[in-house]
Amino acid sequence: MNQGKKFFIETFGCQMNHHDSEKVSGRLVKMGYVPTGNASEADLLLLNTCNIREKANQKVFSRLGAVRKTYGAKPTAKIGLLGCMAQMEGASIFKKAPKVDLVVGSSSYSFLPELVSRLEQGERQVIDVSQDSDRLFETEAGARESPYKAFVTIMEGCNRFCSFCVVPYTRGPERSRPGRHVLSEVESLSSRGFREVTLLGQTVNSWRDPLGEISCFTDLLRRVARIEGIRRIRFTSPHPSDFQPDIVEVIETVPEVCNQIHLPLQSGSTAVLQRMKRDYTREQYLEKVAFLKRSKRDIALSTDIIVGFPGETQQQFEETLSMVETVGYDSMFSFKFSPRPGTEAFAFQDVIPEAEKSRRLQVLQQFQRKIQLERHARLVGKEFEVLVDGSSRRDSRVLAGRTTQNKIVNFSGPPELLGRFVPVKVTDYAPNSLRGELVGC
Ligand code: SAH
Ligand code: SF4
Ligand code: F3S
Repeated sequence: MNQGKKFFIETFGCQMNHHDSEKVSGRLVKMGYVPTGNASEADLLLLNTCNIREKANQKVFSRLGAVRKTYGAKPTAKIGLLGCMAQMEGASIFKKAPKVDLVVGSSSYSFLPELVSRLEQGERQVIDVSQDSDRLFETEAGARESPYKAFVTIMEGCNRFCSFCVVPYTRGPERSRPGRHVLSEVESLSSRGFREVTLLGQTVNSWRDPLGEISCFTDLLRRVARIEGIRRIRFTSPHPSDFQPDIVEVIETVPEVCNQIHLPLQSGSTAVLQRMKRDYTREQYLEKVAFLKRSKRDIALSTDIIVGFPGETQQQFEETLSMVETVGYDSMFSFKFSPRPGTEAFAFQDVIPEAEKSRRLQVLQQFQRKIQLERHARLVGKEFEVLVDGSSRRDSRVLAGRTTQNKIVNFSGPPELLGRFVPVKVTDYAPNSLRGELVGC
C-alpha cells in the first residue's frame, strides 16, 4: 500500500540523532517507502530534531512555519517531527506548528510502522513520546550514511542531570544495550564490508551489560576488536568521572581501538563545574589527561566547552583558557550557554549578557585555533594510514581520509581508493584538516 511512496528526512543535532535517522530510514524502507533527497517530492517529510540549545529549537520552528516554502513540500505531504524536541515539547507542537501530523520521541522509533499507518488511514496528530519502550534497541539501521563507517548504539539516555542539559529529559533514563546484541550488529556490519564502527552513548564508558555476559566497557571494546574485518573502533562520549586508566590500557594493547578520545570538559573552573553538577574538579580532570598523555600511543584529545554559564566570572573564564592551553586539545566544540526550560540552570541568576558570551566564545575559539595550528604543524613530514571515506564533489580525484586520531587528510588519488586504508604523508596543514600525498605513488 505504501509502494513507491517517498520520504525525506532532515537531521539536526548529534551523532545519535544522525544514527537514529538511519534507523528510521531502515524502518520506512521495510514498509515500502523509498528515500528521496528532494524534499519537494516527499509524501512523508520528517525533521529529526535537537533540543540542546535554544537556537536549535528556533531553527526547527521557523522551518515548520514555512514548511511549504522551505522544502517546497507537496500540499498532501504528511509532516513529522522526531527526536529530542519532539520528546520535550510533546503534544504542544500540534498547537505551535499546526502543519505537523506526527510527533515521535527517540524511544519510540520501533513503533513507526504502526504510527505511520495510522496517519495513512487518515488519523491526524498521531503522537508517541513514551520513554518506556521495551523495544528500544530493536531498531537496527537499514540505511547508513557511509558504506565504510557505521554508528552502533550501545546506550540510550543519561542519568547525570548536569544542570545545563536537556538530554536526561529528551532521551530518558540511562539504559545499556545487551553486549551480545552489540556484537551481533557489528558482525553483521563487518560481513557487509564496514571497516570502522563508532560505539555511541551519552556516557558511553558507563555501559554495563544488562545480561551480565560482558564484564565492562573495555571488555566490550576487546570483544568488538576480535570481530574479523573490523579495523577501527571509536566510541563517544566518555564522561570524565567514569574515565579510568583501563581505557588507556585498551588503546595501548588493542590496535583496532583508535587513539582518539573525546572528553567533554565544559569548564576549567572547579566552582563552575560544581554549579554545572559535573562531578569532577579541574584537578581530577587533569589527572585523567595525565594518564592519557603518559600513554605509549599518541592519543588525540577533543572536548566540549560552554562559555558564559550563569555567574562565570572573567577569572573563571580565564581558568578555562589556561586549562585549554595546558591540555592542548586537538579539536574542540565550544558553545555559548543557552538556558533550557526544565533544567536546573534555567533558573540560575547572574545571567551573563549575550554580548559578553559572544566575546568569550570568540576569544576561546581564536585561542584554540592557534593551538590546533601548532599541533598540526608538528605533523608535517609524518606518515599516517587513512581510511579513504570521501571525495570532492567537483573533482573525484581529490580524496579525503581520516587517520586513527580522526584527523582529516585531503590528498590526490584515484577514486578506486574509496573505502581502502592507504598510507599518506602530511605535506601541509590548516586548523581543521591536513594536506597530504599518497605514499608509494
Ligand atoms: N554527554 C556529553 C554531552 C552531550 S551534549 C557529556 O556528558 O559531555 C553535547 C554538548 O552540548 C555538551 O557537551 C555541552 O558542551 C553542550 N551543551 C549542552 N547543553 C548546553 C546548553 N544548555 N548550553 C550550551 N551548550 C550546551
Ligand atoms: Fe547531558 Fe551531562 Fe548527561 Fe552529558 S552527562 S548528556 S552533559 S546530563
Ligand atoms: Fe543529541 Fe541534541 Fe538530542 S545533541 S541527544 S539531538 S538534544
